Amino acid sequence: MRRALTAVLGTGALLLAMLVAVALPASAAPGTLKESAAAKGRVFGAAAATAHMGESAYAATLDREFNQLTPENEMKWATTEPSRNSFDFGPADQLVSHAQAQSMKIRGHTLVWHNQLPDWVSGISSRDDLLSAMRNHIAKEAGHYAGKVAYWDVVNEAFQDGSGARRDSVFQRVIGDSYMEEAFRAARAADPSAKLCYNDYNIDGQNAKSNAVYNMVKDFKARGVPIDCVGLQAHLTLGAVPSDMQTNMQRFADLGVDVHITELDIRMSTPPDSSKLATQANDYKKVVSACLAVSRCTVITVWGVTDKYSWIPDVFPGEGAALLFDGNYAKKPAYDAALQALGGEDPGDPGDPGDPGAVTCTYARTAQWNGGFNGQVTIKAGATAVASWTVVMTMGSGQQIVALWNGTASTSGNVVTVKPVGWNGSLAPGASASYGFTVNAPTGNTADPVISCGTP
Ligand code: XIL
Repeated sequence: MRRALTAVLGTGALLLAMLVAVALPASAAPGTLKESAAAKGRVFGAAAATAHMGESAYAATLDREFNQLTPENEMKWATTEPSRNSFDFGPADQLVSHAQAQSMKIRGHTLVWHNQLPDWVSGISSRDDLLSAMRNHIAKEAGHYAGKVAYWDVVNEAFQDGSGARRDSVFQRVIGDSYMEEAFRAARAADPSAKLCYNDYNIDGQNAKSNAVYNMVKDFKARGVPIDCVGLQAHLTLGAVPSDMQTNMQRFADLGVDVHITELDIRMSTPPDSSKLATQANDYKKVVSACLAVSRCTVITVWGVTDKYSWIPDVFPGEGAALLFDGNYAKKPAYDAALQALGGEDPGDPGDPGDPGAVTCTYARTAQWNGGFNGQVTIKAGATAVASWTVVMTMGSGQQIVALWNGTASTSGNVVTVKPVGWNGSLAPGASASYGFTVNAPTGNTADPVISCGTP
């Protein structure tokens, strides 16, 4: 009897397994940022603003690609408590409901910050008074969202660039160093389930400012002040991802906190062109790869859905195009790079390496001497023939390509785009072509180029 039952159950399970196997294509890589991030145990978020939620392409892109939402301005003090003890959670509630309906996590941003702070707070001059205003603000706002917010940026931008000294805010001046731990304690009391983060910019690599944050986290951990995560804003400029970003994230992780990339954008001088976009793609790839290499780097959030509404052009005149989607919601090369770095693959993009009909490329150094080297890139077709290929090489600073053979190169800044010479463009399935080049490196920087390739 028992045996028969097991046999029946066994058959059922087998049938179920066969059905599942039929329903899921065996090798499909995840096709969106949030799916590919989830497959790596990560969260991929975006900042969003109520003002744009009515635009269907905006909401559709947000919902399709991201599984964490940071209100861009709606949770800041000036909006939520414009006059003392009078709260307005309306705009933020709208975003929170949207996020909940889409099963997105919510990042609370931000409880204590010197900007977008109402005048009544800046005008307080007694320590007890400001401390009680700050505690009340945190109790009410984090209390209002208790259980709904996954992560809170409790304190934002409290350190100065360069020196790493405390920033001269009203909180620092009137309350003193202890305002930060007071803020974290108040946040924990108001919402015990949220992860509490310290968030800042220019702490993406190791420098005096990130050292100061490191020492603060270490001190908090030693004294039992509640802190769960550090947010690296990562407002970066083109071609300047700190080379020690991974090391920096790892040292924070080693203190026992999670690391989040909270406001990622990589700005360029406008208008964008293909070589700037290629460099940007490489930059995004570096940031995502650095995060994936650190097991406690669990969240990546970009500071906006589309270049159309990015804060960059307002604050850095002449710069922009910093995000993953352009002003028409088209995926930029940076999108493909981020997706690929996450192990995902865009089903609608036949130019991706790994796609049928696409190419892969490898680089090898073939010679070197004092002040230069020779390199060779080999492009290989996948399972289908290709008619042509393109390789984008980002050269190290101070390097110059002085000769290139079996390819045609166009150069813009440190980005070199290489196409076939004609006879070596079309490749049979599995076939390959190569080109070579000579690099002069008078400054002694003999770093290998970073390459990516696709079709055409
Ligand atoms: C920016 C918003 O994107 C803008 O809309 C607003 O005008 C100013 O603030 N660091 C932060 C964010 O922590 O809150 C800032 O957001 C960008 C820099």
